[in-house]
Amino acid sequence: MKMNRRDVLTALPAGAAALAFPELRRERASDKPGTHEIVPLPFDPTKLRGLSEKLIVSHHDNNYAGAVKNLNRVEAELANVTKDTPPFVVAGLKERELTFRNSAALHELYFGNLAGDGKLEGELAGAAATAFGSAARCEELIRATAMALAGGSGWVVLGYDLHRDGLALSWSGGHTQHLAACLPVLVLDMYEHSYHLDYGAAAARYVDAFFANLHGEELNRRLAAARKAAAAMRA
Ligand SMILES: [Fe+2]
Repeated sequence: MKMNRRDVLTALPAGAAALAFPELRRERASDKPGTHEIVPLPFDPTKLRGLSEKLIVSHHDNNYAGAVKNLNRVEAELANVTKDTPPFVVAGLKERELTFRNSAALHELYFGNLAGDGKLEGELAGAAATAFGSAARCEELIRATAMALAGGSGWVVLGYDLHRDGLALSWSGGHTQHLAACLPVLVLDMYEHSYHLDYGAAAARYVDAFFANLHGEELNRRLAAARKAAAAMRA
């Protein structure tokens, strides 16, 4: 599947809206471990309809900014991980990293797709019709999914499934049920069914076998495709 800039912007509507702001492009360019910067609100918080300045500023300065600060702290700790680090320590750090990384990314995408005129039209409407029957049906499903999370916590994401080549609506009860804005390159199944018949509980031997069978050409093809999509988003 070939994607030009227009395709990518259409395919990833939330990200496209966010990346329309120079502040977010600058963040992507300096996205090194432990050095993530808090991206300012890309709009005037006094100008939104039905969302107060107090709410938006608190959300940005406390919830979002807190995630960025904590992500930097966790990444600094992860820089010290070695083969001798206890697995439970690594597990805790990786869980927190995923939480804060996704929280930071999703909040940037959330703020980035606000401050518009509220109309869903154009190519997104067409893609929504293909995936869900109509743009109105897509909005109905987004609203229903949101209400399934009401009173608790979570995210609703209308994204583009590169594997199935179409829009997909996903639900997440927290920050950690998927990595936001990620295109898979290397994928390792660590469910027990992947190795138990051959290796029993000896998971390390399965991991050795996995690496012995890894298809480097396919990984490089995926990486090139991902870099192309990322470059198109920044163009
Ligand atoms: Fe939030």
